[in-house]
Amino acid sequence: MTQMGWNRPLVLAVETSCDDTACALLDGHGRVLASTVSSQPLIHRPFGGVVPELAAREHLRNWPAVSAATFAEAGVELAEVDLVAATHGPGLVGALLVGLSLGKSLAFGLGRPFHAVHHLEGHLYSPFLAPPGEPAASIPEEFVGLVVSGGHTSLFAVQDGQISTRAETRDDAIGEVFDKVGKRLGLPYPQGPLVDAIAEHGDPAAFPFSVARLTGRTRAHLPGHDRTLDVSYSGLKSQVVQTVDRLERQGVCWGAEVALPVKLTAGATPTNVVAAELAASSPVFANLLAGFRAAAIAQLVDRLETFYTTAPFSRLAVSGGVAANRLLRRELPAWGALRGVTVDLVPLRYAGDNAAMIGFAALLRFRRGSLGDPLSIDAASRLPLAS
Ligand code: KG4
Ligand code: ZN
Repeated sequence: MTQMGWNRPLVLAVETSCDDTACALLDGHGRVLASTVSSQPLIHRPFGGVVPELAAREHLRNWPAVSAATFAEAGVELAEVDLVAATHGPGLVGALLVGLSLGKSLAFGLGRPFHAVHHLEGHLYSPFLAPPGEPAASIPEEFVGLVVSGGHTSLFAVQDGQISTRAETRDDAIGEVFDKVGKRLGLPYPQGPLVDAIAEHGDPAAFPFSVARLTGRTRAHLPGHDRTLDVSYSGLKSQVVQTVDRLERQGVCWGAEVALPVKLTAGATPTNVVAAELAASSPVFANLLAGFRAAAIAQLVDRLETFYTTAPFSRLAVSGGVAANRLLRRELPAWGALRGVTVDLVPLRYAGDNAAMIGFAALLRFRRGSLGDPLSIDAASRLPLAS
């Protein structure tokens, strides 16, 4: 323990795989000393989604302020850092290159080891991070990890640091369909949190979408991978979009009293307030989104149940941006209680992209004896995490 109350190694982490510029400092107990995330919603909102080149340029612009704020909050100096970590994939290559180059340069300048971290490895262990200032929980020897984000819907089995993929999406990721469904309804980027907030006000029974089930016949690609556990969201997305088309042909639209463009573009009104107004003005759309959300989350519960009945497990760690979903945070623990599975939900502050999870994954590697990666390591838009 140092005078400032933290333990070595001091880990500096950088994450810029998409549109969040993130920096964090953690100590040897996985205690988050500071974690700063600067998002870019207003930059990408006019385009309805993330524009890769703009994201990369924003990372360059934001980094000095983001890193300065992180060091100031943690009360440590750059010279005290023992190891540096940065995400090297998967993600937008231009965006990744900014954080990766920053991380490698800092490690080089400090003469410290550099750890290149897989973005999903960061998410996978994030449920074991504690609130700021508290040591991270110990990692169970064995657990099942469910990562639900804008780019991934994946189920992993983890044993003593060995990760194997058990299932993944065959088409769209779950966060991607939340965003696409929201976009079709004219909601601004990022649509997922708003769709969730509006769905809270709707009745899912009004639009009972079915839960997709898959056969094991297509795309044999991973050994030991049970393809019936895979998820698929493109069918649900099409059903919802077709329903919106039909409703609009019948003249249903968001109520005129809600000044959508003004409120949402300015970003001044809290999501929950806007969501409540939208739901009140157009209950049909609130019901539709509630039906969509219920089917999306029910598919996750269905796959967990299938997995559990074939290979029972006792610990489930749920992470990624969609792990912030309110229905998911009610349904998955309820399922766990039924089956005697302990469900570790990622703390809300670490659900979306952040650098604390990247630093934590690097720390776990360090604890397992890793000396780091060569500074020649490259960024990769696609990168398998495990077999
Ligand atoms: O993990 P993340 O920050 O970035 C990726 O690695 O993709 O996840 C972002 C995704 C977006 O698709 C966003 O719309 C979705 O997570 N998301 C949500 C919620 N909050 C964020 N989706 C559903 N309900 C939410 N509350
Ligand atoms: Zn992510």
